[in-house]
Amino acid sequence: MLINNPRAQRSEYALRDILSIAQADESRAWLSTWPRLNPAPTPLYSLAHAAAHFGIASLHVKDESQRSALGSFKALGAPVALLRLVTRLWHTHRLDPRALFEGQHASLLAHLTVISATDGNHGKALAAAARSLGCQCVIVLHAQVSAEREWAIASEGARIMRIDGNYDASVAEAARLAHVNGWHVVSDTSYDGYTEIPRDVMQGYGTIPAEIIEQTASARDTPAFTHVLLQGGVGGLAAGVASYFCEWHGARRPHFIVVEPHQADCLYQSALAGHAAHATGSVDSIMAGLACGAASPLAWRVLEPCIDTFMTISDDEAIAAMRVLSDPSTNDVPIVAGESGAAGFAGLAALMRERSLAALAGLNSQSRVLVINTEGATAPALYEELTGQHPEDVLARQRTISHLA
Ligand SMILES: Cc1ncc(COP(=O)(O)O)c(C=O)c1O
Repeated sequence: MLINNPRAQRSEYALRDILSIAQADESRAWLSTWPRLNPAPTPLYSLAHAAAHFGIASLHVKDESQRSALGSFKALGAPVALLRLVTRLWHTHRLDPRALFEGQHASLLAHLTVISATDGNHGKALAAAARSLGCQCVIVLHAQVSAEREWAIASEGARIMRIDGNYDASVAEAARLAHVNGWHVVSDTSYDGYTEIPRDVMQGYGTIPAEIIEQTASARDTPAFTHVLLQGGVGGLAAGVASYFCEWHGARRPHFIVVEPHQADCLYQSALAGHAAHATGSVDSIMAGLACGAASPLAWRVLEPCIDTFMTISDDEAIAAMRVLSDPSTNDVPIVAGESGAAGFAGLAALMRERSLAALAGLNSQSRVLVINTEGATAPALYEELTGQHPEDVLARQRTISHLA
């Protein structure tokens, strides 16, 4: 399914009150002091053979699987939101971000409890950040979150609570538990009356476009890319990345395409409805990070004018993309992309298979395309089952080929 967004605009960016380069850059500076992140920017790989195969001018993949040992871009969101929450709660203390991340104020924070629902990656990042700062973390998991994802979150020191329902039910349960116990919700999705923290989370994702602009030396009036494909869960990643590019490039911004699972099409439905909406499908998808039933209303305010095209893909298309990225059988660098991580590449493959769809999205032989691998093998056993490859073997081949390039 594909729809071109009738409300997309190409004008000066006017949403700095929600997301801005200034706030994103401040978040990036704070994140640079968190010892759990790798200090270098994540790689931006050029896949020349894949580009030739698709019939486009170039294809780049920003590889967020290498952001940290946590394995996904979510490591950029929750830590910033937690830091901003703590500095708001103790605003008279003038707490230094680096000192907080180094755990120097752990005794002050020992009785602070933060809670969130998650489908895996956000919860792991929040648990890791809470552990660094020295506060308590409770994570609510819905029925479909796998045991290996639960284990990864628990190993970061979080207390796990399981519920029977889906992701949206876990969001409601986290809000209820916080209300009853005096805990603080640190959620990556917004809802009625709750926007400050999800905005801080999205702002953290601005590190990705900031690095890309530096890596490609993109001047404001000469964007490196004509098209950017962004996978959508509640819409936070897409809003955090697209807003930065929109503010930087203004009317010359790239064409943005949001890719979701068929069964969890809440952003696609939002584009049809003209407001933040619910998915029409079962929501259950192998792309666990994208299996969200409701769009984040705050993210939607940014996506509505910034995203040009919304599309959906099948689980099989995501799995096929994971396989191609892991074993390109050309000189392209192999990349470890998890189920949600591969969705942008899968969306591009689906568009380039159908000339009419490619044309609707304005893709042609001149197009310079960017996709983001938002996670590595965050569920390693599932990754091996789906690709037939061990993540470490893919990484070993990646090192050899990157070295030769
Ligand atoms: C790996 C991965 N990619 C993309 C997303 C989508 O992000 P958002 O929910 O902010 O749209 C998620 C969300 O959890 C994720 O885990």
